[in-house]
Amino acid sequence: MVLITLEGIDGSGKSTLFASLKHTLSDLRPVFTREPGSTWIGEQVRRAIAEEVDPVTEALLFAADHAAHLETVIRPALARGAPVISDRYTDSRYAYQWATLEGILPDPLAWLRAVHDGWTIPPDHTLLLVLPVEVALSRKIKAGKKEHFEEAPLLARVQEHYLHLAGEDPSRFVVMDAEKGEEELASFAEHVIREWCESSRSRRRR
Ligand code: TMP
Repeated sequence: MVLITLEGIDGSGKSTLFASLKHTLSDLRPVFTREPGSTWIGEQVRRAIAEEVDPVTEALLFAADHAAHLETVIRPALARGAPVISDRYTDSRYAYQWATLEGILPDPLAWLRAVHDGWTIPPDHTLLLVLPVEVALSRKIKAGKKEHFEEAPLLARVQEHYLHLAGEDPSRFVVMDAEKGEEELASFAEHVIREWCESSRSRRRR
């Protein structure tokens, strides 16, 4: 059916948007899921992030979580024709681990892509929330939630990477200005997701 992903740096409002979509799109009966964390492997990944393992181990753990996520959630949902909406997916690895592996591997993005090659399922559509890094960090500080990846220079690199990925694949990405109001973002996202689900249903009917 259709695989839709939400991406953005920490503090971009992605999780708030995801929560709102769960409510407004419930009639479409999509499968709402997330990376990391929909499997027990995801729980181990969260532990590894908290304990700060080395970047190669961390990248491989995120990829392992993705493999388990595909097998247990994504493939079965797509096979029964349900739309899938995932809070983070492969582009999180390409954007974040590209940044954490810089200086460790000669071409982190090529390595990360090779790790996923042949078994991942590319998303059909991706909503990318973009905003100034200082605004994202100030939101996290206000919420008292600053974590592992939330340093300004690293997040700035991650966001550059997201924009690079969006530039490479403009037909898949919709870039959203995350400084807009929550309601405006939520209603725009709801609208485009409904259109994507409808066009995927009419393609299947043909
Ligand atoms: P979350 O805050 O959206 O739950 O994500 C947890 C953190 O993990 C967040 O800082 C982004 C990071 N992350 C990666 O670095 N690589 C990945 O592949 C994924 C899925 C998340």
